[in-house]
Amino acid sequence: MATLTINDLKDLKGKRTFVRVDYNVPMEEKDGQMVINDVTRIRETLPTLKLLMDKGARLILAAHLGRPKGKREASMSLAPVAAKLSEMIGKPVAFVDDCVGDKVAAAVARMRDGDIVLLENVRFYAEEEANDPAFAARMAAVADVYVNDAFGSAHRAHACTEGVARVVAARGGLCAAGLLMERELKFLGDELENPARPFVVILGGAKVSDKILVIDRLLEKADCILIGGAMAYTFRLAQGCKTGKSLVEADKVDVARAALDKAAARKVRFLLPVDDVVATPVKTDKLDKKGKPVIDWQDPRVNTSKDCPDDAAGLDIGPATIKAYSEAVAGAKTILWNGPMGLFEDKRFATGTNAVAQAVADATRTGAKSIIGGGDSVKALNKAGLGDKVTFMSTGGGASLEFLEGKELPGVAALSKKPSCCGR
Ligand code: 3PG
Ligand code: MG
Repeated sequence: MATLTINDLKDLKGKRTFVRVDYNVPMEEKDGQMVINDVTRIRETLPTLKLLMDKGARLILAAHLGRPKGKREASMSLAPVAAKLSEMIGKPVAFVDDCVGDKVAAAVARMRDGDIVLLENVRFYAEEEANDPAFAARMAAVADVYVNDAFGSAHRAHACTEGVARVVAARGGLCAAGLLMERELKFLGDELENPARPFVVILGGAKVSDKILVIDRLLEKADCILIGGAMAYTFRLAQGCKTGKSLVEADKVDVARAALDKAAARKVRFLLPVDDVVATPVKTDKLDKKGKPVIDWQDPRVNTSKDCPDDAAGLDIGPATIKAYSEAVAGAKTILWNGPMGLFEDKRFATGTNAVAQAVADATRTGAKSIIGGGDSVKALNKAGLGDKVTFMSTGGGASLEFLEGKELPGVAALSKKPSCCGR
């Protein structure tokens, strides 16, 4: 049965409406201040907030930022987000430096219809990720109605993504999806259920293990699957090719082989790169954020063999692969893209990812529906200036993957259903 949305909510006037949003935005310290690098996740909630304001609701927004693990971390405060939201929505947003207790109660008591309050990072409490029922009940103390617009966090069964909804529902209150959540479920769900064909899927990224459940499910729906990124080398290994120093998951070779067999049995075109850009790794003295030596990629070159040279790693798809993948995309009526074709953060290895982004944008212009499954592919499209040239870009990373795998998301499962009389 279909999930209730805020369009279905009739009498919101004066109602304290607890809205879970995903404001887990990328931030960076500049001159001692935290600044927001990308406001997409804030911007995408504005239609929901405006509709609720128009309906006379009092909006209490809750969100997490980063992974503070139950401790107050000044660098992970949502205060800069409150300021940014206020600027973007054109009205004051009151910030409360807590998410439960007296300060919240006092701020909510002062609210008038259409007012907005943003609560402090819910993950400053360990009870949030533990989905502690008592904590959820404390948060729900200010909620007459619950709205979830945080698709990006809907794969988490945490207190304010799941527990608060359960408390509100148990009291007979309504729990609805926001407009962003509704759009995400429509594009990543309904639209891919019965896609216009050919349905072409482009999957990239480092690991087969991250994507195998998605591959397995899409093998039942897609006409063609294009593989890029380091995970292509695990498939090559399964075919007996040499992979040199490329990133491979040797323990996933069986899984890769099973996917290749399934594609053959179902007559799904399953394309692997036929050439690539390889480079020789040289360890430097520098350490990355995780304390591992930074690799200097030397002597980037096109490799036209399916075998990778012993001293090199594959870091991007090559020109012949770009041509083949672009042609497949050009013939598509529905496109789903998740994951880059290579190490696109380094511009020497961004050509393949940019070419795919361009092919997807071109196909969209001539009538294909293109759906981008979040994370790095969204970053790559935006970097190429093509973010507004596709049909839909998801705001979820992990959430979109789990949803594409066919899993029920706890944050969605906790919402009310539309009454059956007016369902569908
Ligand atoms: C995300 O950015 O992936 C979501 O906001 C969820 O964050 P999390 O992975 O820390 O739960
Ligand atoms: Mg995540």
